[in-house]
Amino acid sequence: MCGIVGYIGNKKATPVLIDGLLCLEYRGYDSAGIATIEKDSIKVMKDKGRVNNLYNLDGINDLQGTVGIAHTRWATHGKPSKENSHPHMDNSKNFAVVHNGIIENYSDLRDFLSKSGYTFYSETDTEVIPNLIHYYYTNGPVSVLEDKRERFLGAVKSAVFDLKGSYAIEAISPLCPDEIIVVRKDSPLVIGKGNGENFIASDIPAILSHTKDFYLLDDNEFAVVTKDDVRFYDNGLVEHNKSIKNIEWDANAAGKDGYEDYMLKEIYEQPTAIRETIGSRFKLGEKCSFDDIEITKEYLSTVNKIYFVACGTAWHAGLVGKALMEKLCKIPTEVDIASEFRYRNPLIDEHTLCIYISQSGETADTIAALKLAKSHGAKTLAISNVIGSSITREADYSIYTHAGPEIAVASTKAYTSQVALIAILAMYFAETLETTSEAEIEALKSDLIDLPSKIDQILANTDEIKDFAKKVYTEKDMFFLGRGTDYNVALEGSLKLKEISYIHSEAYAAGELKHGPIALVENGVTVIGIITNPHLVEKTISNIQEVITRGAKTLVITNQILPNGHFDYIINIPETNPLISPILSVIPMQLISYYISKFKGLDVDKPRNLAKSVTVE
Ligand code: F6R
Repeated sequence: MCGIVGYIGNKKATPVLIDGLLCLEYRGYDSAGIATIEKDSIKVMKDKGRVNNLYNLDGINDLQGTVGIAHTRWATHGKPSKENSHPHMDNSKNFAVVHNGIIENYSDLRDFLSKSGYTFYSETDTEVIPNLIHYYYTNGPVSVLEDKRERFLGAVKSAVFDLKGSYAIEAISPLCPDEIIVVRKDSPLVIGKGNGENFIASDIPAILSHTKDFYLLDDNEFAVVTKDDVRFYDNGLVEHNKSIKNIEWDANAAGKDGYEDYMLKEIYEQPTAIRETIGSRFKLGEKCSFDDIEITKEYLSTVNKIYFVACGTAWHAGLVGKALMEKLCKIPTEVDIASEFRYRNPLIDEHTLCIYISQSGETADTIAALKLAKSHGAKTLAISNVIGSSITREADYSIYTHAGPEIAVASTKAYTSQVALIAILAMYFAETLETTSEAEIEALKSDLIDLPSKIDQILANTDEIKDFAKKVYTEKDMFFLGRGTDYNVALEGSLKLKEISYIHSEAYAAGELKHGPIALVENGVTVIGIITNPHLVEKTISNIQEVITRGAKTLVITNQILPNGHFDYIINIPETNPLISPILSVIPMQLISYYISKFKGLDVDKPRNLAKSVTVE
């Protein structure tokens, strides 16, 4: 949550900073601000509201500074307001800081600084940081250093040592006007290498139009960024070298490419995302392989339990993963919500394989749940969309979806790519363990290869979906029903609807409805059923019949031939193996939510109260 950008070079910093912030707005969008070094002082401009508001601030175009830091906020401590917006300065106005994360001990630090004569002007946890930097710059061993640069870095280090919590921090000072100091712990930060200029950002897409060469900062690592150079230090301030990673993402992939919204673009990118995720990991007639990992038969034979651990949409991908692992590999599999897993003392040991799914690779709860499993001796495998993200740096093994940058807050192509990748992983395990017949795996491979063209088929004609959305967009409640993987995907359909259309909705296992929730079904309420498993058709139809009898309007998304005249609307999708059918059945649900949101005139890409990357607990 919160987005950070930094620039140092020969150009005016402001346009680069604001452009970067606009790309990062999915990380938070309740206030924004920038600070640049103007001659011998820092100029801060900030306000509540979206990044675009910065253009309306008086004097923003007069800023000439070529060194600057910027921030778009997702409020944690203190309401969205100008005072609480970043950057924050110390009392002497010599240090400006932007921060992503949470300082858990800020109240103690604030007390300490207040007693030392400092005044606070915001309700944020962040404001302690510039004041601590000032405190150490002017007190104690660092304050006697003659070299101002060493003194500034030493003061930042001492300040950071006092912080408990998570942070990605950029600090600037007119006392050292040619550098930006950055440091991170449990919050992402990357440095983009340019020619005579360097860039800093929370996420790669924000600066992808400037460079493809990135340094990925590690936890507790400091960097001093100048226009020609980046120097790295460990937490004892011992300098070390760091290698550059070339990121192949195309800058256009991070833009809207003619689509009205990122979400729509990302829905339409799903065939490519699946194709890229399959890549060279398997071909018909050949065994699955992963360049990135090798998991031996000896090790896999010792695994007696698999956990999928994730949050939100990624958790829904894990639910489908359970069906795949249990069916193909015959290994008992559990699926946990990361924020629950980390506090419930799960039964894990060296015979447990814990698989963590995270599009961003930065979700705080998922990372903490991974660290927990490692400390119990379990092996950990990360599935992420972001190369070098925190989760992949912690895990024993990492594999990547190749969905390209996902910018819309509501996840679409990441979900379908995650399910595809888990299917490949399950086949790889099953081939290694020889737990499923070759013929069955070959059939599944063929179904996976066919998915992109089947998604294209769904996307080629969306009129029915749009019509349905138009009929129901004013409703207050909806229900989603399914059995097996159809239930798993019903949960995802329901989450999409809540997030971007603000319609209350619930998803239930179709057979569970009569155990309570059916009491909510009344005349005219809309129920969406998903039916893709030939073995469960009749059972699910009976459950949908139960709501029809109570006056519900029904839409059924199916790849089966259903009896005529039962349902108000039917959306047909192509047939595939039920283990991977969520990749197809989710598409109409993504589009229904998308169009409802558009009919309601909402901001599809930036739904209220949400942020793309949830780096706080
Ligand atoms: C919903 C959505 C969220 C994320 C969740 C986990 O559309 O995007 O539910 O799936 O916050 O995020 P990652 O996958 O980045 O760990």
